[in-house]
Amino acid sequence: MQEIKIFCPATIANISCGFDVMGLALASIGDEMLIRKTDNRGLTISKITGQNLPLETSRNVAGVAGLALLKDLDYSGGFEIEIRKRIKAGSGIGSSAASAAGAVWGINELLGQPYSSLDLVKFAMEGEALASGVAHADNVAPALFGGFTLVRSYDPLDVVGLNTPSELFATVIHPQIEVKTSDSRKILKTSITLKDGVKQWGNVGGLVAGLFLEDYDLIGRSLVDHIVEPIRSMLIPAYSEVKEATLSAGALGTGISGSGPSIFSLSQGEKNAKKVAKAMQDIYNKIGVDYDIYVSKVNKKGIYAL
Ligand code: HSE
Repeated sequence: MQEIKIFCPATIANISCGFDVMGLALASIGDEMLIRKTDNRGLTISKITGQNLPLETSRNVAGVAGLALLKDLDYSGGFEIEIRKRIKAGSGIGSSAASAAGAVWGINELLGQPYSSLDLVKFAMEGEALASGVAHADNVAPALFGGFTLVRSYDPLDVVGLNTPSELFATVIHPQIEVKTSDSRKILKTSITLKDGVKQWGNVGGLVAGLFLEDYDLIGRSLVDHIVEPIRSMLIPAYSEVKEATLSAGALGTGISGSGPSIFSLSQGEKNAKKVAKAMQDIYNKIGVDYDIYVSKVNKKGIYAL
């Protein structure tokens, strides 16, 4: 195989209670990438459409992640990448993760899969470090594994694929402002109280159990964030109004997608997810905030060839 065209899903990191450890991949939002073998050693980003991002390999998340893999393998050939961005940078649905994970997944396919998904997460995290200053894995892991994932440990890296209940749908609204992950991490406190810790890890355990038991009420009860949401929600227009409206419309739970500004809800069934979308839109239409809105199933396979 000389070239491969792939779909790289958008992702929702944190999923309310699991800051930096939980994530899920979305089925109907994502970028496309074309990755081609070349004779020249190294990696070139030859074209990016849809977003104004650097082509220079060392300043591009796909470039940095891909080079991490090639360096590890000591590969003598090279690759060229074209990226068609549909996920906006700074949207909170894993724009940099899609590019970083896509680059390493595609290169790994063209090389005959020398690396495991866990290895690919490590390489892709180098791209995330370039984008946000922190090598978090909660977007790249679901992009590469598909479905819901838990980063049980960063050192050593341990990623656990979780169950995806079949009736679960996500609704995501992206108010058209850009929030850089690096900025929205700077405003967080670096310590938490034991009391908040107890509430938070109770919810992480509840969410994991709810996913495996396919217990939608338990999933909903667990989608609560006592630590990050109270701080970051200040960056998002009408956050509490949107949240309240989605819960009244039947969402299981609502939170900040990744580092924001997108807001996500999980619902049981597509019909409910669409009702939730309408509730979100009504609020932003009323106050005049421009937005993109998506209703999507969970993507269970992660990145795939087109
Ligand atoms: N866990 C990361 C954060 C995700 O919340 O900063 C960024 O998409």
